[in-house]
Amino acid sequence: MRHLLSIDDLGRDGIEEVMALTDSFVEVSNRPIPKVPALRGKTVAWLFYEDSTRTRLSFEAAARRLSADTMNFSVGSSSVKKGESLRDTAQTIQAMGVDAIVVRHGSAGVPWQLTRWLDCAVVNAGDGWHEHPTQALLDCYTLREHFGSLEGRRIAIVGDVKHSRVAGSDVRAFAALGAEVTLVAPPTLLPASLEGWPVQVSHDLDAVLTTTDVAYMLRMQLERQDEALVPSLREFTACFGLTVDRARLLPDHALVMHPGPMNRGIEIAAEVAESTRSVIRQQVSNGVAVRMAVLFLLLGSGRPEPIVTVPEEVAVHG
Ligand code: ASP
Ligand code: CP
Repeated sequence: MRHLLSIDDLGRDGIEEVMALTDSFVEVSNRPIPKVPALRGKTVAWLFYEDSTRTRLSFEAAARRLSADTMNFSVGSSSVKKGESLRDTAQTIQAMGVDAIVVRHGSAGVPWQLTRWLDCAVVNAGDGWHEHPTQALLDCYTLREHFGSLEGRRIAIVGDVKHSRVAGSDVRAFAALGAEVTLVAPPTLLPASLEGWPVQVSHDLDAVLTTTDVAYMLRMQLERQDEALVPSLREFTACFGLTVDRARLLPDHALVMHPGPMNRGIEIAAEVAESTRSVIRQQVSNGVAVRMAVLFLLLGSGRPEPIVTVPEEVAVHG
């Protein structure tokens, strides 16, 4: 694998490979000193044109735990502010010697464009409304931890699907692993065309919740909405929010997920986010090990064995 741009680059076998490798990096992450020398001498740079808490910090933690050097780039304090283009910016960073660039951008397709301009590995950390593959991988890993397999599991992805790159990648990944995905949203918050999406669609959240294994709530992405797509947020919550009452409709074993950041009180009630069904914090924790697996697959030897057999006492290098 040279780049990670889309879940489609991986397919079922690739996702399974990332999951298996993540198991070993979870073990590394649980050590008193969670560090291995796997990527010593490699440099990873971040190119984030959009804000991030989880993705950026977990990629950074992942790179450091693999002993890679990191190069931080913040658009707000860079020469992008002086008008430097994306191409010049990316090629400038590459010229300093980087092995991988992790990119987040507001426009769909930017990571693909970068692969045409750069020789290093490119990782998509979110492109416009399109894809966010590492989010989907950590979601699959979290579900696998709870259910063992996604085969035949029913997953409801609820809310602002239209603007959600998380939904774009999750649908691909969940379906590849054999889950049955239902999108639950008002028509105005669904993509204009769902042709080719392996999903069912419902506008009745209450009905879907009674039989689902997972309620995956999406953030209402107000910053991406330039027109009123729902009559009011209050009405959206009344029909599509996971309120305390509505969460009672879920089967006992069902999980609640959210990619974060959450709008508490809009798509999800604070009490539901904190309930025992919620695996939202586990999603975040798993994000580090999943991203270690992705960086290792792109930049490492491609063989996981040395990672799992590094004895703890020799695994610690600065
Ligand atoms: N953090 C995720 C993303 O950047 C989801 C969200 O922002 O709602 O796509
Ligand atoms: N889930 C996610 O991508 O979060 P951030 O936007 O904080 O990175």
